[in-house]
Amino acid sequence: MKILVVGSGAREHTICWKLKQSRKVSKLYCAPGNAGIGQIAEIVHIKADNLVEITEFSAENKIDLVVVGPEGPLVGGLVDMLKEKGIRAFGPVKKGARLEGSKSYSKDFMQKYNIPTARYEVFTDSAKALESLKDFEVPVVVKADGLAAGKGVLICETKEDAKEAIKSIIDQKQFGEAGDTVVIEEFLDGTETSLLCFVDGKSIVPMESARDYKKAYDGDMGLNTGGMGNFSPNPIYTQKLNAYIEENIIARTLNGFKEEGIDFCGVLFIGLMIKGDQAKVLEYNTRFGDPETESVLPRLESDLVDIMEKCIDGNLSSDDLKWKEEKSVTVIIASGGYPEEYKKGFEITGLDQVDEDIVVFHGGTTLKDGKVVTDGGRVLAVSALGNTLEEARERVYKNIPKIHFSNMQYRTDIAKL
Ligand code: AMP
Ligand code: GLY
Repeated sequence: MKILVVGSGAREHTICWKLKQSRKVSKLYCAPGNAGIGQIAEIVHIKADNLVEITEFSAENKIDLVVVGPEGPLVGGLVDMLKEKGIRAFGPVKKGARLEGSKSYSKDFMQKYNIPTARYEVFTDSAKALESLKDFEVPVVVKADGLAAGKGVLICETKEDAKEAIKSIIDQKQFGEAGDTVVIEEFLDGTETSLLCFVDGKSIVPMESARDYKKAYDGDMGLNTGGMGNFSPNPIYTQKLNAYIEENIIARTLNGFKEEGIDFCGVLFIGLMIKGDQAKVLEYNTRFGDPETESVLPRLESDLVDIMEKCIDGNLSSDDLKWKEEKSVTVIIASGGYPEEYKKGFEITGLDQVDEDIVVFHGGTTLKDGKVVTDGGRVLAVSALGNTLEEARERVYKNIPKIHFSNMQYRTDIAKL
């Protein structure tokens, strides 16, 4: 099979790495990829948001399967465009991706289908939004409705902060059109967990759980990021919690898909806030998580091509997912300054010095004069398996000092339980 993966992060590197292990793959392309992906796939120089060119490339090269990594192209309707040309694609159509593309839509969906989530209200008028603050306790959460590269959620400790957030999103257009609508919601206390699921239109099959570290610095200090590290499985995810989630979240979400006529194929990533044996949905994402993928896919025993094909054909069963007993840990090495201003173009050395039992997935990297250089905020994802989380963790942290670039920044407390 000829497969094209769309995207350029460590998530897409991991997807390529896992697909490459399948005997079914004869040719692997990635658009636009990065320096690491270029070692295992043929790079196609088309940006992920150039939906027309990706569709044309796929048709011209008779691609058998397109795997879409990031949310932008999904929300923009790439899968719909590919389907129109008769090209098989893994990822939801626009109607399904809207669950990530619009927070007000997804909150309304959760409310309609009685899926546990934080109390919320939706506004397009800043005066009305400001007025509603009297109905919320602090901290209160203010969210831009649309896609904002993970930056559109503001947790406000005081009403003054919340007022500023509302004004800057609606009136000053801090996130552009993504903030024409805001969601104000109750702050949920608890422990977060990420649950990625394969969906074949008729069933939602959870993968192994994962724990993301969103804050930039050790001890959960600093700003929110796309994710600075991860481990899998998450011990908080007990059988009892699993039963609660199956009954109150997964079954109801599936019912919602049916009622709304959403033919969802791909990955549904449910962001959960856990308290005791209960959980509430923070958000839906309609794609693999980054860095969740870098810890979850290395634990997958089964062939990823088979699973993706079954999702498209609507015949996936939970027996199709076989997992390794080993635990996994991923640590992100970022550019100094991330998630705020940072410099790019620093040479990365030592990538050939790391042990064989770890994998370094590339995120923001590119080739310049034959050298691998930094090209983004989250540069590398270092992942390892181990019999225990502690063993996996040690493997990762033993290897990070072998890798060098100017102003490297990473957390030292990932998976330190
Ligand atoms: P979202 O994109 O909606 O998942 O929000 C990004 C992050 O903001 C989440 O992963 C949480 O850490 C935090 N967050 C979002 N909504 C809430 C909430 N209602 N209560 C507490 N934290 C939240
Ligand atoms: N790690 C969170 C996300 O992919 O959105």
